[in-house]
Amino acid sequence: MQRLTKKWHRDGAHVGLVPTMGYLHEGHLSLVREARKRVGKKGKVTVSIYVNPTQFAPAEDFSKYPRDLKRDCAMLRKEGVDVVFAPTDGEMYPAGSTGGEATLFSTYVVEEKLSKAMEGVSRPAHFRGVTTVVAKLFNLVLPDVAVFGQKDFQQATIIRRMVRDLNFPVRVIVAPTVREADGLAMSSRNKYLEGDLRRQATVLRRAMDAAHAALKRSKKISAARLKADTRKLIESEPDARLDYVEFFEPETLAPVADVSTGVRMALAVVVGKTRLIDNETL
Ligand code: PAJ
Repeated sequence: MQRLTKKWHRDGAHVGLVPTMGYLHEGHLSLVREARKRVGKKGKVTVSIYVNPTQFAPAEDFSKYPRDLKRDCAMLRKEGVDVVFAPTDGEMYPAGSTGGEATLFSTYVVEEKLSKAMEGVSRPAHFRGVTTVVAKLFNLVLPDVAVFGQKDFQQATIIRRMVRDLNFPVRVIVAPTVREADGLAMSSRNKYLEGDLRRQATVLRRAMDAAHAALKRSKKISAARLKADTRKLIESEPDARLDYVEFFEPETLAPVADVSTGVRMALAVVVGKTRLIDNETL
């Protein structure tokens, strides 16, 4: 991958990267189109597809995570992507001759502030896995531009911080969330939502709409009040459980006491057994 991308650079092409875990949907494809826009016709767009084991906790859905490389490649071919980079676990985290544990891998990239809130509370080792794999992908693909989705707002904020802190020569673009017609944010994990769970999953969209509406009625509302109202709405669905809802400053992720226009809302909800996240500027 490095040999190829270095040649592209020598030939004067701009290189764009869209990191993904595959099982692609329109949300991913919108990032691919954004990458193409940024690097131009003569540029090169690489999409990485890698279900990164270090960002999953042992009890999470790593082995169940949906995978379909053939279908993904067909979709990306249609989009005019130049290269799909799909390394194996052994290539990313060499385990040595005994296999099993990643015994020949012991260096991680850890962001120490922004990673502690929200997703970091429920998934303590998650962002260490994300920053590590994204740093590796940056070193492997050597992109000029990398595109991430607002869908994972905290992740994008942490990547931006990592790039600044560690001087990666990469321009980070964060693109809007693509939604289904009923407002559910597209996600590879939506595949898990069967029967009525799919309908119940729209409660994240409804909770954000309710917060927008409340802010229209009064310009400033206490975060505590909005959190309580959100919890009530979420838990009116029989199979939905609120993991967290936060109201915070978009740049720093610092929680606010009073919610007003411009504050960002993020929430995580478990619907059945599927954990869904969403966020939006109010
Ligand atoms: P994955 O969940 O596959 O998402 C890949 C990229 O697509 C992320 O930047 C994510 O924010 C974006 N994305 C997901 N759903 C979206 C939607 N509905 N609209 C717009 N963009 C969307 O995020 C990861 O993979 C991994 O953590 C990764 C960064 C690849 C590191 O392993």
